[in-house]
Amino acid sequence: MKFKKGFTIASLGLSSMLLLAACGDDTASSSSSEGEAKDVSLRLAHNQGEDHPIHTSLEELAELTAEKSEESVEIGLFPNGQLGDERGVIELVKSGTLDMAKVSASALESFDSNYAIFSLPYVFQSEEHYFNVMDNSEAVQEIFQNTKDEGFFALGWYTGGQRSIYTADTKVETPADMNGMKIRVQESPTSIAMIEAMGGAPTPMSFGEVYTSLQQGVIDGAENNETGLTSNKHGEVAKAYTYTEHQYVPDVLIVSTSMWEGLSEEQQQAITDAAVESSESHKTVWADAIDQAITDAEEMGVTFYEIDKQPFIDAATPLHETYQSENEDSKRYFEDFQSYNE
Ligand code: GCU
Repeated sequence: MKFKKGFTIASLGLSSMLLLAACGDDTASSSSSEGEAKDVSLRLAHNQGEDHPIHTSLEELAELTAEKSEESVEIGLFPNGQLGDERGVIELVKSGTLDMAKVSASALESFDSNYAIFSLPYVFQSEEHYFNVMDNSEAVQEIFQNTKDEGFFALGWYTGGQRSIYTADTKVETPADMNGMKIRVQESPTSIAMIEAMGGAPTPMSFGEVYTSLQQGVIDGAENNETGLTSNKHGEVAKAYTYTEHQYVPDVLIVSTSMWEGLSEEQQQAITDAAVESSESHKTVWADAIDQAITDAEEMGVTFYEIDKQPFIDAATPLHETYQSENEDSKRYFEDFQSYNE
């Protein structure tokens, strides 16, 4: 079954999981391995364009899922934020109106404060440390499962690279340069606190508003990985990209608990395995895309600046203490993350 183009939120209806079986007990709400699995079509939303590396890897997720489930699970992609911004699609997945979404871990912080750890500046000391934690940490799995009773959980992750500051024209070399600068951040309390600690004026807004806000001077800058400059065209209006490398925020694949419980165990396994495999190959897709984004951004007139990051690290790391005293689990999570860097 193929989704029609031009699909809108109004046509989502109450449940977006389409059960395509000609027969069978469709009142079953728990998973089963008895072989009566129904064919399902799932909708997966995200806010990037079709030229973005995450779209490529989500296409791979869809292909692998079809293959591994013997064509019994189809995943249809809804890119470009057509089903809403990240906060909106998380709400939809949580309520079971939408099956799946790829969102930034930062956006999940407003739904479960434990997600704050992924937005903590300089919590990962290297890409190796980051991959190690994301692929192996039990704390990550615990955070991913935490919200299951609230309607959704995270099934997997995809690298979103490293985030750095970029501004319209004035390059940022030290925290003092950020004084008074309005820097767009994600709607994440930790990211807001981070820019404050670095000396800037944080301005939270949804991703879709960033281009126009930069263009109109509503904000002086933003922070993201290099694809923001090219795939999202921010490089047309922001010409100075400074490698503060303050965060590795993973992209997270969330699924609706009610949809999940309606799948057979084999279907659940097929999607889980496809998520792991596509996450792994996304690392290469991503690295290639970043090389290309840098070349393309330079052609757009963007200059990349390497700086001494230490003053930014010193300014932002007090947030690690704040996070650890956040709740009874946060210290344990933080220590678990650090143990993968030893
Ligand atoms: C990254 C991330 C998106 C997020 C965006 C943002 O591009 O992959 O999911 O929306 O950052 O800054 O909002």
